[in-house]
Amino acid sequence: MLHLEPVGKHLVEVCTNISCALLGAQQVLEAFERELGVAPGETSEDGEFTLRAIECAGGCGRAVVVSVDERYREPVRPEDVPAIVEELKRGD
Ligand code: FES
Repeated sequence: MLHLEPVGKHLVEVCTNISCALLGAQQVLEAFERELGVAPGETSEDGEFTLRAIECAGGCGRAVVVSVDERYREPVRPEDVPAIVEELKRGD
């Protein structure tokens, strides 16, 4: 996708459209906010992570959909978020 500003090394995008919203997208987004220390639309100070809320990612049947570095993780629950962030920090 087109970015109007530089993004971090890792781009985490949480779908917050209707199917994902009904299955807890807001809670997943808030879990990423806590783990990454950034709000949606922001990049961490070290330039490692950008967090975004996005519209439908086309995976509605597997909500909540999270795109991590353009690879879909689905379905994602808030309790899955720490492991995803740890994986990214380790560089897996
Ligand atoms: S609403 Fe989230 S993938 Fe469609």
